[in-house]
Amino acid sequence: MNPRETAAVRRRYDRNARFYDLMEQPAERYRFAAWRRRFTQRIRGPRALEVGVGTGKNIPCYPREVDVVAVDFSPRMLLRAVRRAERLGREVAFCEMDVQALAFADQSFDTVFAAFVFCSVPDPVRGLRELRRVCRPGGRLLLLEHMRPESGFRGRLFDALNPLAVRMTGANINRRTVENIRRAGWRMRVEDRLAKDVVRWIEATAG
Ligand SMILES: C[S@@+](CC[C@H](N)C(=O)[O-])C[C@H]1O[C@@H](n2cnc3c(N)ncnc32)[C@H](O)[C@@H]1O
Repeated sequence: MNPRETAAVRRRYDRNARFYDLMEQPAERYRFAAWRRRFTQRIRGPRALEVGVGTGKNIPCYPREVDVVAVDFSPRMLLRAVRRAERLGREVAFCEMDVQALAFADQSFDTVFAAFVFCSVPDPVRGLRELRRVCRPGGRLLLLEHMRPESGFRGRLFDALNPLAVRMTGANINRRTVENIRRAGWRMRVEDRLAKDVVRWIEATAG
C-alpha cells in the first residue's frame, strides 16, 4: 500500500464530493441505477459490508432485513451518505475506513459489496484480500465495476487513455479486476458483462 497515493485519491474524492452526484447523473439515468437495483438484490445477511459507499447511491436498494455497515475513506463523501440515509429513514452504521486496512474482525460479514470502487483503490488486490478476510467462509462478494476490455484494440486504447483518466477523475479505466479478484483468493461464480465487457457485475465466494 502506498500511503501518499492513498492520501492523494482520498483528497480528490473529498474535493469532488460536492459535485459527485451531479457529475454522475447522466450515467445513473443511462443504466447505472437499474444495475444497482439488480446487483443489490443479491445481498444476504444478517450482516453486510459496503466499501466505498460514496454518497450512498446504493442505500435506497439495501434489503430492509439486512444490517449494513458502510465505509469510505473520504469523510466528505461519507457525510453525504450519512445525510442520504437520514433522508431515507434507513439505519446504516457508517465508518471512515480504508478498504486496504479494514478494522473488522475476520469473518464478520455474510456479504461484502462495492460499486465502482476498485478502479480507484491504490492497491486493489490488498483491498480484495481484506474483503475476503472479513467475509465468512461461504459468504459472497458482489461487485459492480468498470474495467479493462479484453479485446486487443480496445484494451490497448484503455491502457493509452488511462493516465489522462486518472488525472481527470482519479479512476483507472484499465484495471484487470477479474484477475485481481482471483489473485485475492476469491472463487468467481458469476461474471455478467454489461455495456460490452467494460462494466461487469461479479459475484464470487470466499472459500
Ligand atoms: C467512484 S466512487 C463510487 C461511490 C459509490 N460506490 C457509488 O456507486 O456511487 C468511489 C468511492 O470509493 C471510495 N474509495 C476509493 N478508494 C477507497 C479506499 N481505499 N477505501 C475506502 N474507500 C475508497 C471513494 O472515496 C469514493 O467514495
